[in-house]
Amino acid sequence: MADKNIKSVLLEERTFPPPREFTARARIKPADAENLRRRAREDHVGFWADLAAAELTWQKPFTKAFDDSDAPNYRWFSDGRLNASVNCLDIHLNERGHKTALIFEGEPGDVRRLSYRELHAEVCRFANALKAQGIGRGDRVIIYMPLVPEIVIAMHACNRIGAIHSVVFGGFSAPALRDRIEDTEARVVITADGGWRGGQAIELKAAADKALSAGCPSVQRVIVLRRTGKPVAMQPGRDLWWHEVIEGHAAACEPEWVDAEHPLFVLYTSGSTGKPKGVQHATGGYLLQTKLTTQWVFDLRDDDVFWCTADVGWVTGHSYVAYGPLAMGATVVLYEGTPTVPDGGRFWRNCQNHGVTVFYTAPTAIRALMKLGDELPGKYDLKRLRLLGSVGEPINPEAWIWYHRVIGNGRCPIVDTWWQTETGAILISPLPGVTSTKPGSCTQPLPGIDADIVDDRGNPVKRADAGGYLVIRKPWPSMLRTIWRNNDRYIAGYWEKFDNRYYVAGDSAHRDKDGYFWIMGRIDDVLNVAGHRLGTMEIESALVAHPRVAEAAVVGKPHEIKGEAVFAYVVTAASGRAVRRPRSPGSCATGSASS
Ligand code: WTA
Repeated sequence: MADKNIKSVLLEERTFPPPREFTARARIKPADAENLRRRAREDHVGFWADLAAAELTWQKPFTKAFDDSDAPNYRWFSDGRLNASVNCLDIHLNERGHKTALIFEGEPGDVRRLSYRELHAEVCRFANALKAQGIGRGDRVIIYMPLVPEIVIAMHACNRIGAIHSVVFGGFSAPALRDRIEDTEARVVITADGGWRGGQAIELKAAADKALSAGCPSVQRVIVLRRTGKPVAMQPGRDLWWHEVIEGHAAACEPEWVDAEHPLFVLYTSGSTGKPKGVQHATGGYLLQTKLTTQWVFDLRDDDVFWCTADVGWVTGHSYVAYGPLAMGATVVLYEGTPTVPDGGRFWRNCQNHGVTVFYTAPTAIRALMKLGDELPGKYDLKRLRLLGSVGEPINPEAWIWYHRVIGNGRCPIVDTWWQTETGAILISPLPGVTSTKPGSCTQPLPGIDADIVDDRGNPVKRADAGGYLVIRKPWPSMLRTIWRNNDRYIAGYWEKFDNRYYVAGDSAHRDKDGYFWIMGRIDDVLNVAGHRLGTMEIESALVAHPRVAEAAVVGKPHEIKGEAVFAYVVTAASGRAVRRPRSPGSCATGSASS
């Protein structure tokens, strides 16, 4: 890609310095940021090693901070041993055992609170139940659940015993679930009778049954949480109720200590082929950076109530619901439903009722709620909010300004955070007490992150306003380790383009005269619809799987609220003549993308 081909058309000149009162109380002040940056520049590995030693609780401290002998399969803290649930729960029991860890609100309005002590007990009980079912270190567990406390409990129960979780978003269909079960060869599926979304009961167990009916021989148990109370079919010998499997199990469970490189989870995301990629994260590095970014970017203190609206089925819900804020001992809000039930004031009502102080959501939600006008948020008391965040796609300046003015009442800094499933944690973002923000820019790389923009030959793009490939020059602890059972795809997808010299994010970006990063969009065949990554090939595969579809080609189209919309060109097969074509290993038909 030559400079001339990608040019930014977004010109946004407004800047918003951090409010003085915010800076005065911020965890990271300008001098701290300067020190962190200097330390990282002088000794990249030492910088991360010091933080890992200070921030994480190790059963056995590491002596080897970084290992590049198998580059680009980098390893961090590899001879250290720890446990993720200990780092998110046990470490708080003495000092804040009675503090609320989770405030859950269901879409119908039911509210439940769990203290750190209670959450810890539930995690241990469920971990013991999984062990009793024969699940242990290295086993894969698929979690296909609504956004209720038990999804977080299930994730931490897995890591308590060294099992590897793979959460599948509850909105995904049976075939998508089956692909993920087959790829991970999971032994257990944890699901629910259903969950409430958009005023409806989403039938998760029925979808799981459909997925399992077509094979999946690895699955021995299906554990079903009762949530909606709707009737479900239970297969004797395979299916068990959550409340029955935990019966009689102790509320304490000795943690399984694992190496820092032990896979913590596999999370599937779209790539530029028809088959989703299982992004594999390692325990130590991931925990370190999700915890640190929660401190640095969200500035969390003990009296904060943090609400990240993402579903735990996406990486944002992993890093900033289930891991980072719990590692920080924060109070975390979980909301099961959609922003518009019963009306478009739901988010703001939840903020008011639960005293949310730090709120993190996606531009697509902001745009949708902005369209409903200023009156709805005006009905609620949002005075406790002190910091706002955005993630998942570029935020257009109009939405940024509305968020700032109407939701933040002009007082709250906005952190526009750039990162990916693969990066594990936020990499480019304002530090809210330090960075002057510009609407639409994710500003600058965090300390320890060496991001750059390069041209087609891998040379840094120097000119402001000229775009290029967003790359990360140095490995960082929370980076993905590989693609589950497909290391070739890891190398081809992220490293090969520039001879393994940098991590290639797949986004285009440019830097302005002040060195601020502006993300322009994906460079590969991935669309970003309402903040969700969808591969064009995946959609094409789904379309041509229909017998009446001969050819399909999918492109993105700008959309006012969702950022991008899917536009499909479909050539139908002559009536009555089904088109046959070979099946890909992901059990989707191979897409044919002629236009
Ligand atoms: C996009 C979500 C602009 C980007 C955490 C990236 C963003 C993809 C931003 C990753 C942002 C994420 N500004 N674009 N602040 N944050 N993106 O894996 O294209 O679901 O590559 O992770 O979302 O999406 P993913």
